[in-house]
Amino acid sequence: MITKAVIPAAGFGTRFLPATKASPKEMLPIVDTPVIQYVVEEAVASGITDILMVIGKGKRTLEEHFDRSFELELELEAKGKLKELASIRAISELANIHFVWQRKMLGLGDAIRCARHHVGDEPFAVLLGDTLMQSLDGVPATRQLMDVHDRFGGCVVALEEVPPERVSRYGVIDGDALDDRTYRVRDMVEKPAPADAPSNLVVASRYILTPDIFSFIDAAPPGKNGEIQITDALRARIADGRPMHGCRVRARRHDAGNTLDFIKTNILYALQHADIASALADFIIEKADELRGGERL
Ligand code: UTP
Repeated sequence: MITKAVIPAAGFGTRFLPATKASPKEMLPIVDTPVIQYVVEEAVASGITDILMVIGKGKRTLEEHFDRSFELELELEAKGKLKELASIRAISELANIHFVWQRKMLGLGDAIRCARHHVGDEPFAVLLGDTLMQSLDGVPATRQLMDVHDRFGGCVVALEEVPPERVSRYGVIDGDALDDRTYRVRDMVEKPAPADAPSNLVVASRYILTPDIFSFIDAAPPGKNGEIQITDALRARIADGRPMHGCRVRARRHDAGNTLDFIKTNILYALQHADIASALADFIIEKADELRGGERL
């Protein structure tokens, strides 16, 4: 049974400057809730009870967000704001959350390596701290991967189908379909040109890893800027004859680490938010009409 998750959240977030100069991108809100809280909630809803966040400089507010805030609780209690009180208390009770520092930003592979002592010799989930996975059928994306791990063991990656012209931004798999959602992965290619891509199935920000991955991370050659890619470690592990599967998840991925997708995600989530959905929909329709009429906004 998988009970531990690692959330890498140490990256600089350069695609989101200047907002990320002093604030973590993982704390940017989708409507009224920071991105990282959705990620933790997905892990908890999947059955995870122990979370290790990999953080770096400027990320202390992540610790504060998941800690109790006694002054705020007293203040809310005194003002009779009991709904707000319950919601902020619930955040600190979500799971056992621990933090470890990545000293140098040496890539996702290195960030995962920082979890080595914490995970010990158990398989664990990895959820990227800047990406939301909105389940389409109520089963959290991480739980879907855990179900594949329960069937086959080994490492499992979340897969997403993308239009062929977009594959060059991602890790792409070469694999054999076992059923309409599950693939046995034969190999992976990082950021291929569309013509060289073995498929249009890309790795999508959630993983189940087994502890043997750490020796493959250690052996992975540093790439651009000394960064260690998790894809290289996973490829070496496959080449060593160890099984890996992919699960085309029933979830919509929202990358909150770039401005356009962040704004789109905010609009989508806000349109599902009872308090503001209808006023926002009116505003969007009004602005769309103005745009259609050739007006400058
Ligand atoms: P990204 O490449 O999206 O994150 O890494 P980044 O480096 O913060 O973003 P940009 O490209 O500069 O805007 C994917 C995930 O891996 C984490 C990031 O925090 C993010 O959640 N990460 C990345 C680390 O924890 N450490 C690293 O060295 C690199």
